[in-house]
Amino acid sequence: MSGSRLAHNYHPLPVVVASAEGAWVTDVEGRRYLDLLAGYSALNFGHRHPALVQAATAQLGRVTLTSRAFDNDRLEPFATALADLCGKDLVLPMNTGAEAVETGIKVARAWGYRVKGVPQGRARIVVAHGNFHGRTTTIVGFSDDPEAHDGFGPYGPGFAAVPFGDADAVAAAIDDDTVAVLIEPIQGEAGVVIPPEGYLRRVREITRERGVLLVADEIQSGLGRVGETFACDREGVVPDVYLLGKALGGGILPVSAVVADADVLGVIRPGEHGSTFGGNPLSAAVGLRVVELLATGEFQKRAALLGAHLAERLEPLVGNGVTAVRVAGLWAGVDIDPAVGTGREVAESLMALGVLVKDTHGQTIRIAPPLVVRATEIDWAVEQLQRVLTR
Ligand SMILES: Cc1ncc(COP(=O)(O)O)c(C=O)c1O
Repeated sequence: MSGSRLAHNYHPLPVVVASAEGAWVTDVEGRRYLDLLAGYSALNFGHRHPALVQAATAQLGRVTLTSRAFDNDRLEPFATALADLCGKDLVLPMNTGAEAVETGIKVARAWGYRVKGVPQGRARIVVAHGNFHGRTTTIVGFSDDPEAHDGFGPYGPGFAAVPFGDADAVAAAIDDDTVAVLIEPIQGEAGVVIPPEGYLRRVREITRERGVLLVADEIQSGLGRVGETFACDREGVVPDVYLLGKALGGGILPVSAVVADADVLGVIRPGEHGSTFGGNPLSAAVGLRVVELLATGEFQKRAALLGAHLAERLEPLVGNGVTAVRVAGLWAGVDIDPAVGTGREVAESLMALGVLVKDTHGQTIRIAPPLVVRATEIDWAVEQLQRVLTR
């Protein structure tokens, strides 16, 4: 067999990265690119942040894997720091984002049966149209993105989808068997879709009144991206369950977690859930340092300031090759005017000018630089976008 030996589950831009530092990557031919994707927010602290590399390197010299059959001396400090950051009691460590979502679903169902008293096998979870929570068979079953969903059934029952941003629809969808509302506070893969002001607060009130858990998937929106620790903070909302991933691993390795109070997460008993790699000492050492970086508040502040700067630069593009711009912290969805081209074509043109972005859903590009990016670099990147749009 000749050609690539990789399965065709991705269609990457034709760039082959060989090294990276901060907000920049370098390809195999020595060309440099500003990384405005940041690993879908996994690289919030930039490529190879020195404190994170140091934490990983030091841990590599001690112990990297124990499995949860034994404890390791990094896990409790990581769990304590992360629980404190979230203001919650307990942490259940996993690896990928999809695993955190699956774990959240299991926790919500177990809570429903054991605490709320829902009859076995009947638990329902309300989700939002346009959601993206990962790629497992359960999760794609309640996606309405044909690419993610179609052709992978049979799909698991127990999910009801309602329009994103419509709190009344959430209220109407809740019945006696509903155990949770699972939402992204801002929908990343959908194109940085920001719900109307007050939506999260209203959903929080509804879920509290109706005895249903609010599960916030902050895997892409959380950990500094929007100028706060969590996107829920924008409305002063505290969910019952945080689902975290991506940046929790510092762009070094997959680290995810479910974080909740003991009356919720405490329902899971030994032997009912786990992962060989979840909570391994290397992940825990890196995750602990990530939480320490976030605890300073410095990255949240940077994202807020630079985000305002990014919004100022992007907004004038509306009507000039761009049909809409949505910005939350250092995170933007930019809808490209079809007269200019597709999102993919714009991404390819930007690549030729030294800027890496990723298109989503045809006409949208997402701008999500590492939070260590400089204002001057944002200016330069938006200038390149302007060049592409006015060609
Ligand atoms: C909101 C959200 N949840 C879950 C996931 C899945 O994470 P992973 O790719 O690590 O499984 C993603 C990935 O893009 C995401 O954006």
